[in-house]
Amino acid sequence: MEIKYNSQRLAYPFFVSMLILFALQIGFGLLLALIQMDPDLLKGTFNFNVARAFHLNLAIVWIVTGFIGTILFVGPILGQRDVRPRWLAILLLIAIWIVVLWSIATLPLAQVGIAGWVGNTPWLQQGMEFLEGGRVTDILLFIGFGIFAYLTLVMFPKKVKRWNELHWGLAIGVVGLVGVWVFTMIPTKELDLQEYFRWYVVHYWVEAVWEIIHITLIGFLLARFFGADDKEVGFAVFWGISLVVLSGLIGNSHHYFWIGTPAFWQFWGSLFSALEPLPLIFCIWHVYLDEKHGVTPIKNRAAFYFIFGSALFESVGAGVLGFTMTMAYANLWEHGTWLTAAHGHMALFGAFGLLVIGAAYEAVRQIKGINRFKDGMSKLSFWMLFVGLSGIVGSFAFGGTKQIYVYRILGLDWWGHQIRPAMSQARVLLGVFAFLFVLGGIIVIYDLLTLKDRAISETNQKLLDSKLQTRGTISWWRRSMTQFEFAVWLSGIWLFGLIVTAGVFSFNLHSVRLGDPTIPYIILGIGYPGLLIITLVFAHRFLMAFEQRQDLLQVVQNFSVGGQLQIVDIRNKAEKGGEREQLILDTFNRLSYGEAFMVLSDRETGCQHHTLHKILGTTFAWEVLEAGPQQWKVKVGKLN
Ligand code: HEM
Ligand code: HEM
Ligand SMILES: [Fe+2]
Repeated sequence: MEIKYNSQRLAYPFFVSMLILFALQIGFGLLLALIQMDPDLLKGTFNFNVARAFHLNLAIVWIVTGFIGTILFVGPILGQRDVRPRWLAILLLIAIWIVVLWSIATLPLAQVGIAGWVGNTPWLQQGMEFLEGGRVTDILLFIGFGIFAYLTLVMFPKKVKRWNELHWGLAIGVVGLVGVWVFTMIPTKELDLQEYFRWYVVHYWVEAVWEIIHITLIGFLLARFFGADDKEVGFAVFWGISLVVLSGLIGNSHHYFWIGTPAFWQFWGSLFSALEPLPLIFCIWHVYLDEKHGVTPIKNRAAFYFIFGSALFESVGAGVLGFTMTMAYANLWEHGTWLTAAHGHMALFGAFGLLVIGAAYEAVRQIKGINRFKDGMSKLSFWMLFVGLSGIVGSFAFGGTKQIYVYRILGLDWWGHQIRPAMSQARVLLGVFAFLFVLGGIIVIYDLLTLKDRAISETNQKLLDSKLQTRGTISWWRRSMTQFEFAVWLSGIWLFGLIVTAGVFSFNLHSVRLGDPTIPYIILGIGYPGLLIITLVFAHRFLMAFEQRQDLLQVVQNFSVGGQLQIVDIRNKAEKGGEREQLILDTFNRLSYGEAFMVLSDRETGCQHHTLHKILGTTFAWEVLEAGPQQWKVKVGKLN
């Protein structure tokens, strides 16, 4: 896909803003990690809780800015018209920066105890986790989300009958963003009620509204990348969204355990939130299926890395890690510890952060008129962020496990500095991985802002493409992944997820409550590292097979012997009895990787395609060159 509507370019300043805010946010993350190591750092000048508020609020703002950029970029294609009015989109950008500057000015007021009370309302800042900004910020954001929803909806066809699942997904998403936000503005002086509404916003945002936007955008981008069928993608988007709504609405009550709601919510919250991983598994499964489409190599492998990472971390960070702590007997222990932070980081950055960065890669590529670019730096940053994040999550999990023991089981004093020593190794680990993550962040920001410098001209690309060689053998590692293998990896991931769940549950054991932490330490010591390692290895295996497939698609495209393809004429073979299929298969089996031949037929070749697919899975390329009415020609090539 190339830029079709001029107003898609409006996405660019949003992505640049996103990157600046991302830089600031991880700067604060690093600062938090450093204060964790040395609590006296900035003592009295800049408190940990204020730095933390900056870190959380900026996380939300940069990701939402990325969503806006992405939707301004894809919306015109979906709606087949420009973003309008333009000035409103520009006003939205200005509004984002006003909110950011206002927050920078008001969040530190927490340090001096100023909330700006007028009547029942804290106008300047309100100290609610994630929603620390005061009512002024709330109102500004409400207007901003309103503008965003308006801009999106006016792009779409007037008659809703013409909407497909992707229109619906984004429409529900942008309207949900505003709708759920209303709960921040309900005035109440009661702390528990306030917490209740806070959870509405935080939970319905990330686990419902954002998830819906996420599933829709992934569906859209992959359909464009791989030329997958819009209907099939629509089907996946429909089921994804339905499952999110079904499980998420009642699943929200997994947050009620701590705010004095009636006891029956413990059951319903546990049950429905335990179902929430379903749509997330469905989403990664679909990424697997979509990646197998397409006979021309995609132009933006880097973007695919990030999008794949996003679906994977959505499944592991939100789905698996969310599951491990969501049932009442686990939540009892995890609540308020670093285990929550482990889940929060992998879910928020992993699912949504990686998605908007992936979308930025594609948007910047098109807006800057780049065909292909050297993507070594992009992929390096991807792996640094991936490993950095996994390390951060592992450190939180490690620290959190000890924290539960010393804080909850032994009941040692938090403020008396009795817990710090127990978590000290985890803090050092956190610092180390924080540096790796920040370095990856710097590289990705630099890469995106200067992508044009790494553009490859069409002539150079042709030269590179023509140089791609077939390989005699392909190691197992780079072979195409079958559905079965994919399912085995997912099961492995879930197996470790269940081990972690068992570990958190085991804090309920009598022996543990009497003071012996051996059992949870052992189980969690296997569960968390196992989960992180298998996720990393799986990602590598998947992406190497993807690289190999893309290379071979190019080699198959180049392939011809002396300018000619071998022709396999099936016209004189009987239609019934499998003779035609047999001939094609025999020829196919003599091919080396990257080689191809052409089938010439007097009938539709759907049957042959179907048979090959059954026998060979996705290890062949099937490119229809001519489709009747006299003759049919298909180029068949051998992939990994
Ligand atoms: C250099 C990278 C990062 C480091 C070192 C870091 C570190 C931290 C620390 C130390 C906390 C406070 C934990 C506590 O309360 O004790 C925190 C909280 C949090 N951070 Fe980060 N962070 C990083 C990047 C990110 C990113 C990229 C995101 C999301 C886009 C993010 C989202 C969050 C969230 C949601 C929380 C609150 C978690 C909770 O409920 O406890 N962080 N982070
Ligand atoms: C991408 C989607 C998700 C994101 C971004 C996300 C993010 C977060 C964040 C940031 C927190 C910390 C909130 C705070 O400390 O105030 C949290 C808590 C939690 N999340 Fe998620 N989450 C997601 C999906 C899920 C799912 C699918 C489940 C369940 C299967 C889940 C279960 C939980 C639980 C149980 C808590 C802890 C509540 C407590 O401490 O009492 N999350 N999540
Ligand atoms: Fe939740």
